[in-house]
Amino acid sequence: MTQSSKLPDLAAVEARDAADPLRSKRDLFVLPEGVIYLDGNSLGPAPKAAFAALETAAHQEWAQGLIRSWNSAGWFTLTDTLGDQIGRLIGSGPGQTVVSDTTSINIYKALHAAFSLNPGRSVIVAEGSSFPTDLYMAEGVAATRGAKLRLEGVDAPCRSISTAPVSISPSAAPISISMAARARRPSSMRRSVITRS
Ligand SMILES: Cc1ncc(COP(=O)(O)O)c(C=O)c1O
Repeated sequence: MTQSSKLPDLAAVEARDAADPLRSKRDLFVLPEGVIYLDGNSLGPAPKAAFAALETAAHQEWAQGLIRSWNSAGWFTLTDTLGDQIGRLIGSGPGQTVVSDTTSINIYKALHAAFSLNPGRSVIVAEGSSFPTDLYMAEGVAATRGAKLRLEGVDAPCRSISTAPVSISPSAAPISISMAARARRPSSMRRSVITRS
């Protein structure tokens, strides 16, 4: 059997696409004509509903409500209300997820918190193929804490690619895993977050 004979024909693909229960979700987003967009982690496609929400936030809540909008428009508690909405997607209960700051700032805080939870530990282990700014944060925390940053995985210096579990010494405090490492990384390289108590 040749490679091409394994491919389903276009009509079969289109039939499966038409029967996809998530098909209608495509219409919730704006995308340029003909674009197939697979980037969801960094900057996903614009939801149509976002434009109306931005309009309301700017013209009503900010321009008309002014400083009152911290309370009257619920800005003050957005960390929790948005967190609960994300919580429903990731399986956490009400009050267990908050939205705050930027990814980099949150990584910085989380790594410091991990050190504080594990006094005496002195190593951050991170994937070498992590998003660059994740590693800048890890470098900064390591320098502040007098700790070392150990890179593992595809882009780690002087290491071959291996899917074997990374051995974590007792000195390792935080483990930083980026799910947004470069796309060329095979899925087999994805590792679970590892923590030691
Ligand atoms: C894995 C990862 N880390 C860090 C960043 C940088 O985010 P921020 O500018 O919010 O710190 C991004 C942005 O896409 C990201 O995907």
